[in-house]
Amino acid sequence: MSTVAQEIARFDLNLPLESSPTPPSSWYLREDVLECEKERLLLGHWQPVARRQQLQHAGSFVSGCFMEQPYVITRDQEGQLRAFYNVCRHHAALVTSGEGCAAHLTCPYHGWTYYLDGRLRKAPRLGAVKEFQREQYGLKPIQMELWGPWVWLNFSPSPNPLSAQLAPLSQRVPPESLDSLRYQYTRSYELNCNWKVYVDNYLDGGYHVEVAHQALAAQLDLDNYQTQVMAPLVLQTCDAGGSQQGDDFAERLAGGAVYAWLYPNWMFNRYGPVLDTNWVVPISAERCLTVFEYYFAAGCDEDFIRRSLEASHRVQLEDVEICESVQRGLRSRGYDVGRYAPSLEMGEYAFHHWLARDLQS
Ligand SMILES: [Fe+2]
Repeated sequence: MSTVAQEIARFDLNLPLESSPTPPSSWYLREDVLECEKERLLLGHWQPVARRQQLQHAGSFVSGCFMEQPYVITRDQEGQLRAFYNVCRHHAALVTSGEGCAAHLTCPYHGWTYYLDGRLRKAPRLGAVKEFQREQYGLKPIQMELWGPWVWLNFSPSPNPLSAQLAPLSQRVPPESLDSLRYQYTRSYELNCNWKVYVDNYLDGGYHVEVAHQALAAQLDLDNYQTQVMAPLVLQTCDAGGSQQGDDFAERLAGGAVYAWLYPNWMFNRYGPVLDTNWVVPISAERCLTVFEYYFAAGCDEDFIRRSLEASHRVQLEDVEICESVQRGLRSRGYDVGRYAPSLEMGEYAFHHWLARDLQS
């Protein structure tokens, strides 16, 4: 069997879109490739792990785990937000779980207690310990930024600022303009496919829409589907089409749609009175989770929201079927690499290029 380095080297960064094959199947099948992706890109890029709304009140905290990194975000009594590794500095137990409101966080193992600003407050029965400075045993901080309604974390020590990375999106959709939207709903889907299969599907420049999403395609002007690559972002935009029939699509696509993807695993879809986002989280080489959040403008009535969520669910089920079919094909001996449609799949090519650059570095 080839080494992971050999497989990663198979994508030639020097080939232009028109001549380049896609990455080999092994990138979508091997756990050692996912392990490299985790170390070299997933933990080094910004992840929208919580909504600001969950941390409105002094004393609130939200905990979770991304790619085996447990985190906790806290708002202290002075209103300051902070993020930490949710790991006790004594013997590594997770300090807290879930979310809630607390004066301080107490480890359930030996009772070490931390202030919400991360400082160690109490370490019981350490009487004879030597060379122990309590101030050196606070929770370890994680890089955090705010953009839109989310709290973002980055698990590398000195990441590029998120606000700069999202600047082209902020120009098109100012993050302040999202403040008036109301959070409605989160829905997650577990898929039997590599996380990149799902991202590839999103970045094909609308190529699959008229074949795989016929109801949606009738509402879009696919001839005017545009893709702009602005590292580490890809912006896809599409005007509303002519059809006024069927479900909520005509209404929700008035004014066109902006589909933004932030490398490597976050999608932002703004259309009419709706915002939905999709966070793609790997579970294993051949499984991933996609987490959708839905936001609506204040004027939307319940019936519109219901129809909109149903329409989105239908499109997602169509994508799930496609992505799981692709994953089965990737396992076949009859497939190794594919090709790009140069006038449509420039976003997908950019993704693979950035991925290969990060993996080969
Ligand atoms: Fe799709």
